[in-house]
Amino acid sequence: MKHFVNLKDISSKDLRKILTDAKIRKSRRKKMSTLEVDKGSPLKNKLLIQMFEKPSLRTRLSFHLAIKQLGGATLTLRSNELHLGEGGETWEDTAKILSTYGDAFMLRTDNEEKIENFKKILKIPIINGLSPNSHPSQALSDIFTIEEIKDKSISKLKIVWIGDSNNVLNSLIAVSVKLNFNLYIGCPKKFYPSKNLLDWAKKNGGKVYVFSDPKKAILNADVVISDKVISLNDKGNKKKKINYFKSFRITEKLINYAKDDCIFLHCLPRGSEVEEKVFLSEKSKVWQQALNRLHVQKSILLYCFGKLR
Ligand code: CP
Ligand code: NVA
Repeated sequence: MKHFVNLKDISSKDLRKILTDAKIRKSRRKKMSTLEVDKGSPLKNKLLIQMFEKPSLRTRLSFHLAIKQLGGATLTLRSNELHLGEGGETWEDTAKILSTYGDAFMLRTDNEEKIENFKKILKIPIINGLSPNSHPSQALSDIFTIEEIKDKSISKLKIVWIGDSNNVLNSLIAVSVKLNFNLYIGCPKKFYPSKNLLDWAKKNGGKVYVFSDPKKAILNADVVISDKVISLNDKGNKKKKINYFKSFRITEKLINYAKDDCIFLHCLPRGSEVEEKVFLSEKSKVWQQALNRLHVQKSILLYCFGKLR
């Protein structure tokens, strides 16, 4: 049994195995319909319980279909519909019940500690489906999309993130170290990634470069990635924060500094950080990116169940 909580804690070899498995499985499904089960039903009779403390469309859909395509089933819970921490029911009791009913647990939470606490009690694998500090399934799936479109190893590409130092970027930094690729970040100084994370990356041979000038960061990029300035768990003054990012908006003018054949990615939902023209342009691969979540979630689940080839 393996947890999928933070990409920093997963070996490069296992991350590569997940990506390779996703590629093979995706290619084998070309003529299959959405609910058809993969050959061998590798997760037959397994139940994935998903719990959301925050809204979700893509993560919910992709995990739902992922376990189904592997032969299992899913149950989706909203935390506010449970007793969780209320009326005398402790979260420890909740965790024990989840362990006895389910075979894996996916949690989207507004509290980092909750994942660690659940991990201690659960007897089944836990998957982080977004927390304030990381969004590992998104970042790994984005690597899959990049390698699929560019048809080469990510280590041969210039990957650029323009935007906030949020959960998705944190996971991208972690995976850039694990898979050894160049990650350029364009972000206002006040919102640079945490020193802790940058130090960890440096110590582990990471190639992470941060710029306060978006043009310098994006120059000759193969891939440009952005995300909302205001994330689900943002608590500060939103208006003020958006103002800081004005010159970091992905406009046609800004993306022209990247390579002509660059692609644009965004995990969605989107906000004002990207111009509509860019979002809907040929360069934008956001729909393919969103659907790839499904293929990568399947291999993440297999990793958790110790069933990756
Ligand atoms: N990208 C992503 O995680 O989308 P949802 O919030 O809709 O799950
Ligand atoms: N950074 C965003 C990602 C949403 C999928 C958020 O946390 O809201």
